[in-house]
Amino acid sequence: MKPSHHLEIKTLLAHLWNDYAAMTPQANHIQGLLRERGETFVNDHIALRTFNIAPINLSVLAAPFLDLGYVLTGEYHFPEKKLFAKSFSHPSGEFPRIFISELLTEEFSEKLQTTVKEIVARLPKNITGKQLLLVQSFWPKVTHETYRELQEESEYAAWLSAFGVRTNHFTVSANSLHTFGNLKSLNGFLESNGYCLNGGLKKIQGSEELFLEQSSTLASEIPWEFANGVTLPIRSCYYEFALRYPVPGTWELYDGFVSQSADRIFESTHSGDYQKAS
Ligand code: NI
Repeated sequence: MKPSHHLEIKTLLAHLWNDYAAMTPQANHIQGLLRERGETFVNDHIALRTFNIAPINLSVLAAPFLDLGYVLTGEYHFPEKKLFAKSFSHPSGEFPRIFISELLTEEFSEKLQTTVKEIVARLPKNITGKQLLLVQSFWPKVTHETYRELQEESEYAAWLSAFGVRTNHFTVSANSLHTFGNLKSLNGFLESNGYCLNGGLKKIQGSEELFLEQSSTLASEIPWEFANGVTLPIRSCYYEFALRYPVPGTWELYDGFVSQSADRIFESTHSGDYQKAS
């Protein structure tokens, strides 16, 4: 790996973390709780969201990561959520995986498609994937009415319209934690500290048989400034935890993702089941 790549990746990831942490008060708080237990940990993956519209689609967002040496590790279809996604890993193993999903806008109403196209048309011409990732202020502000209208069809579209292209969640690698025997015990720790987890009774998505187990907190609610200076509380981002299992016959941990699991995880930014974490 080129040494310059190393620095560039670190700089990009640090930017993504700072932006995410500023919107997700629980992330730094949970990190603090884990550190108090003596844990040190790394990130398993970072999830980014976008619309499948040419100037900002998945390929555009993937380009800066591919330029920095990341390689494609999987493609995923979420028919229920109308999403397509790809995962990328860095061969050095030193950096978190990148998971990028895009909303298949043509599968929604004409109204949604028109709204989304209007938002994208307000972005600077010839914007690059790297600019989208680094300069969140490019994203135009939408009205709360637009947000609510999109929410009726797709929570994902509403989230993206308000927050723009940015990190939806960071995921702690549970494999790098050493004071919890399993994900269930980690979940118990989070709940005992006042955090509500996604998934109702099924708090762990995926399974050992699928080589990946994940759980996530419900997204933080933060005051968000919409167009016309209107500020209202909406749910921003969540924090996720992933435990990977070795692929049989190898010593390597599974490197991909599980669509079945992610379909449920996507629901943790939904407003319906929201409960405040203290
Ligand atoms: Ni994830």
